[in-house]
Amino acid sequence: MTQRVWTEVDDYISGLLIGADPALDGALEAGAKAGMPQISVAPNQGKLLNLIARVHGARTVLEIGTLAGYSTIWLARALPPDGKLITLEYDLVHAEIATANIAAAGLADRVEVKVGAALDTLPTIAGEGPFDLFFIDADKVNNPKYFQWALDHSRPGSVIIVDNVVRSGLVIDATSTDPSVLGTRELASMIANEPRVSATIIQTVGEKGYDGFALALVEG
Ligand code: SAH
Ligand code: DHB
Ligand code: MG
Repeated sequence: MTQRVWTEVDDYISGLLIGADPALDGALEAGAKAGMPQISVAPNQGKLLNLIARVHGARTVLEIGTLAGYSTIWLARALPPDGKLITLEYDLVHAEIATANIAAAGLADRVEVKVGAALDTLPTIAGEGPFDLFFIDADKVNNPKYFQWALDHSRPGSVIIVDNVVRSGLVIDATSTDPSVLGTRELASMIANEPRVSATIIQTVGEKGYDGFALALVEG
């Protein structure tokens, strides 16, 4: 199986189950036009995030890594009108484009984009927790710290999702010196050794290549 097939099957799935969506499609277009990296979650992954948030009945969401706000829009659409999503973004240009995309999606009332390095902005939102759902998708090197922060600002029943935890299989290289791989491996062992969570990691293939996500449920 090749990348071409993975992409065509993702296109098939998204054509069947998602279709055209002006707000989401516009967010991707605006990001591409601004020269931002095209690393948003795939449409079928975005919809999975939306479905998980709805199944969970999430009212408060924390996202780390906004980019153009594509995953933000999927997650925020799962919230009730009085729900709240905070998304953290390091890059001012990304944050500005995301803010416009979120407003165009009609979600400005429930989304707050906070600009700055997440390790600097997280302490400023500590009082907003506990959060029902976390989506961690920023710099992979800091994933252990983000996961710890999420755990410390969760409640029994909170869900923590982390993107990009397989990286084309590089994650199994115990000798890797790549900071992203090291961060990902440390995250995985933290999750494994954390008695407060029950977790799994799922490998994925699709338009974004071969990767995976982790899902952890904070236990009572
Ligand atoms: N969640 C988005 C994709 C995020 S890409 C989606 O699926 O649509 C990763 C984003 O994290 C980029 O916009 C990058 O600028 C941001 N980022 C990288 N390091 C960061 C940091 N230390 N703090 C906050 N954001 C960071
Ligand atoms: C990269 C980051 C992501 O969040 C992603 O989903 C895919 C790729 C990256 O930094 O290469
Ligand atoms: Mg990602």
